[in-house]
Amino acid sequence: MIKNFHVIVVLLFLLIYLVKTLLLLTNKKEQLARFTKIFRIPEMIISLLFLGTGIYLLVQLPEINNLMIIKIIAVLISIPLAIVGFKKSNKALASISLLLILAAYGLAEASHKKLISASKEPIAKNDGKELYTAYCTKCHGEDGKAGIMSATDLSLSQLDDAALFEMIKTGKGSMPSFGSQLDEQQVQAVGQYIKALRK
Ligand code: HEC
Repeated sequence: MIKNFHVIVVLLFLLIYLVKTLLLLTNKKEQLARFTKIFRIPEMIISLLFLGTGIYLLVQLPEINNLMIIKIIAVLISIPLAIVGFKKSNKALASISLLLILAAYGLAEASHKKLISASKEPIAKNDGKELYTAYCTKCHGEDGKAGIMSATDLSLSQLDDAALFEMIKTGKGSMPSFGSQLDEQQVQAVGQYIKALRK
């Protein structure tokens, strides 16, 4: 939920930013001044939501990888550059700042994909608990209740066997698909293990 909201806010933020940078680059000073004035409040709200949801998501992450750190640094550097760039109508600064934000957005996507597809060395065994610990705890937690990256509380799950195995194999949203990492027996084993986490 928050994740989708964050993406929308970031896209709006980028859009406002893009328009402002384009106006600056094409010397449309009057339009830029007008646009800045009209969007002053929305821009402030969007920036705050951008940071707020970003920080919220960050503290929820199971692990922070290098891509994520570069992304945060890019965002942090781009903000003062943008402020100075627009204040002094400095095209270079404003452009660099926009590029940094765009790069950060790309990195965010890449690091997210990496996180959810982070495959460890395949485990040869059919031990449900071991498989669960290796592949599932970083989002669902030891007891299935951690809810990291909005993962479902497995102790409350009501899926029947067929839907459960299907979910593990194909995934959904931030839930990765494990069909290529786990063979049928392993899917069954880890499936049985998480059913035992239910009350
Ligand atoms: C990267 C985080 C992540 C990992 C790793 C992960 N899950 Fe999930 N899981 C989720 C999310 C997010 C959902 C909610 C998906 C949705 O409904 O949109 C979910 C939902 C589920 C559900 C559905 C529960 C229900 O009642 O709807 C099952 C079952 C499940 N996961 C099992 C597993 C198993 C087994 C593993 C390890 C093999 C695993 N998950 C690893 C994030 C993860």
